[in-house]
Amino acid sequence: MQYVIHTQQLCRYFEVGDTRVHALDHVDLCVDEGDFVAVMGPSGSGKSTLMNILGCLDTPDDGDCRLLGQLVSEMDDAQLSSLRNQYIGFVFQSFHLLPRLTALDNVLLPLRYADVDITEGALRARHLLDRLGMSERIGHRPNQLSGGQRQRVAIARSLVAAPPLLLADEPTGNLDSKTSIEIMDLFTELNQEGQTILMVTHEDDIARYAKRVIHMRDGKIEREHVNAAA
Ligand SMILES: Nc1ncnc2c1ncn2[C@@H]1O[C@H](COP(=O)(O)OP(=O)(O)OP(=O)(O)O)[C@@H](O)[C@H]1O
Ligand SMILES: [Mg+2]
Repeated sequence: MQYVIHTQQLCRYFEVGDTRVHALDHVDLCVDEGDFVAVMGPSGSGKSTLMNILGCLDTPDDGDCRLLGQLVSEMDDAQLSSLRNQYIGFVFQSFHLLPRLTALDNVLLPLRYADVDITEGALRARHLLDRLGMSERIGHRPNQLSGGQRQRVAIARSLVAAPPLLLADEPTGNLDSKTSIEIMDLFTELNQEGQTILMVTHEDDIARYAKRVIHMRDGKIEREHVNAAA
């Protein structure tokens, strides 16, 4: 079987002054289709660096990274952005919505770059916003929405091109606990429908929603456990 994510000895270094920071230090990670994985670990342990490489926003210095069988570590920028548009939905802690666009237009944005029929995409965008309880807010701009509503728009945007992999870097980091639970219930539902999800979180309560929890420290995967309840 082909993994959605397969990294082997993945390394990313940053030179700061005279020191070299091993942000990722020989990381081996396999994620199956349909998996729901939480990545935890102290601040600076390499979680976002890992997500950025998996999201094709950054490239590794050493080792292999395969996404759906394709060797990302050897791709140029154009190939990386094409893979990103086709395969990956990315949700950030701080939403990253365009302030001048309405909720609906923000959700439609990835369709400009993805190979998706525009009518079908627009239907999908409305359906996603509807499902996220946002149908009354599609004409609102980000500053007219609450934090939880902004994150819902960002999640709809990340899913509009139907990417096989959803990456989320602290998706509930800026949200209150009630909204966080709603977002996690949504992730659980999406995962039950087959969506592969990898998310970073600092909170045990959030990590509990995942099937597997990976613990990072100093750029390495320190240990991993399976959630019995999930
Ligand atoms: N662009 C960069 N230049 C230099 N060092 C960097 C850069 N990006 C990350 N680092 C360093 O790499 C290490 C890992 O950073 P990363 O952002 O992946 O941590 P993190 O686990 O996501 O932390 P947090 O929980 O605070 O978000 C840190 O020591 C950080 O200082
Ligand atoms: Mg981070």
